[in-house]
Amino acid sequence: MKIEFLNKPLAEISADFEAILVVNKDLNHKFVKDKDEFEFFNYKGDKVLVLPEKKRIYVGIKELDYDKIRVCMSQIYNSLKTYNIKSVKLNSYLCKCTKKTFQAIAEGFILGSYEFTKYKSEKTEYKLNQIYISSEEFADKEVDEKKANLGLKNGDIIARATNYAKNGVNEIPEIYTPVKMADEAQILSARYDRVDCKVYDKSFLKEQNMNAFLAVNRSSANEPRLIHLTYTPKVKSLKRVIFVGKGLTYDSGGLSLKPSDYMLTMKSDKSGALAAMGIIKGAAELELPFEIHAIIGATENMIGGNSYKPDDVLISRSKKTIEVRNTDAEGRLVLADCLSYAQDFKPDILIDMATLTGACVVGLGEFTTGLLGNNEEFKKEYKEITKDSGELMTILEFNDYLRELIKSNIADVSNTSSSRYGGTTTAGLFLNTFIKEEYKDKWIHLDIAGPAYLEKSWGYNSFGATGAGVRANLYYLLELAKEAK
Ligand code: BES
Ligand code: ZN
Ligand code: ZN
Repeated sequence: MKIEFLNKPLAEISADFEAILVVNKDLNHKFVKDKDEFEFFNYKGDKVLVLPEKKRIYVGIKELDYDKIRVCMSQIYNSLKTYNIKSVKLNSYLCKCTKKTFQAIAEGFILGSYEFTKYKSEKTEYKLNQIYISSEEFADKEVDEKKANLGLKNGDIIARATNYAKNGVNEIPEIYTPVKMADEAQILSARYDRVDCKVYDKSFLKEQNMNAFLAVNRSSANEPRLIHLTYTPKVKSLKRVIFVGKGLTYDSGGLSLKPSDYMLTMKSDKSGALAAMGIIKGAAELELPFEIHAIIGATENMIGGNSYKPDDVLISRSKKTIEVRNTDAEGRLVLADCLSYAQDFKPDILIDMATLTGACVVGLGEFTTGLLGNNEEFKKEYKEITKDSGELMTILEFNDYLRELIKSNIADVSNTSSSRYGGTTTAGLFLNTFIKEEYKDKWIHLDIAGPAYLEKSWGYNSFGATGAGVRANLYYLLELAKEAK
């Protein structure tokens, strides 16, 4: 899809269709025509109205904030994609001519057009692939072509990095094994000069005493992989940012087997890993001025005679002992060892992403990521900065009462809480026990269990994977880069 900004009035642009935004039901705006049709279709300016004979589409938008713009662009695309048209033009009217506005426009079209059709025998080829944005009328500022084009370019990169993550998550567990994930990471590094990839197998995990990670893998027919991607900027790096991703290519629950209803969709338990890979891809294309790492623990959590068991005690890489009380709380075991490994690289910022707890979906709903950590300022700042990405975040607080709940009678820590409540926070607290004192304030944990995978589409997210974590973090890194300038 090509999205172009043209510094000329709408009438001078030829396209197959015109899209008109109706902001806050304002049908009196000069770009709004077709009043007779509105009367006939009882159109009040709040929804989508396609007028094929007039070759115009009206889309209601409550206000012109970035995320509503994304949803609106996705609606335009999805309402028109089945028509035999190639191009749509729209006004930039009323929008603020900021880089982020154009970023959101590009993201809306590209994210909204995503579909996972690999396993459909009949694939529909949509023709709509050219979008023109006219400079005709901005709300407040002069047209800044440079900003507009940079915004479109960034939006294109960010949305494609997100769709890349979606493709990996949507791939079936039979195909997308830990070895496949490692191969995909190698492909990324072959594609980008500044991305390096190291893949480690079981023998390395043994050497490193990553016994918590290894225990999860034990009864899987597929070997585990520790994947370490590094993006090194051309310029002198301003910071070292490390992302750690939960890469469970399948989570059956292990011996604490999931009921069938809950097992379904667990191919999505690799969403944290794919988010980290998407961020590396995006960072390389955006040429961010940071050294960025993705450290991924890739394994399945399966069941068999060799399975690790509730009652086992594992000696993790950090030497901390873990009592296993539930083999379905496996993500935190893999992450414990990966976080320990990640801290050896002395991060300035350490962010882990994981579909870690069902409790997060229960507590926050399926649209929102849980944001946890020790540093109140960092969490607030992160939430504030990532807001424009459209990813929703809720900060969850640690406290000393919850801390008590992961104590074990026979080991240093238990992999489950002794209470059935507060499961997302106690999972975060479990991870926190593997964060060394000097990194406590540099670390953030994102529980993306809710928004990572959808069984019902919303906004510009279609059924299946959403690429949660990619946009939020690329927005965060772009802002950090701006601040550092
Ligand atoms: N992968 C799941 C969490 C999950 C649930 C992700 C639903 C996405 C949607 C995780 O490994 C898990 O099973 N967690 C358990 C922890 C419990 C046993 C302490 C859970 O949330 O039930
Ligand atoms: Zn699990
Ligand atoms: Zn899991």
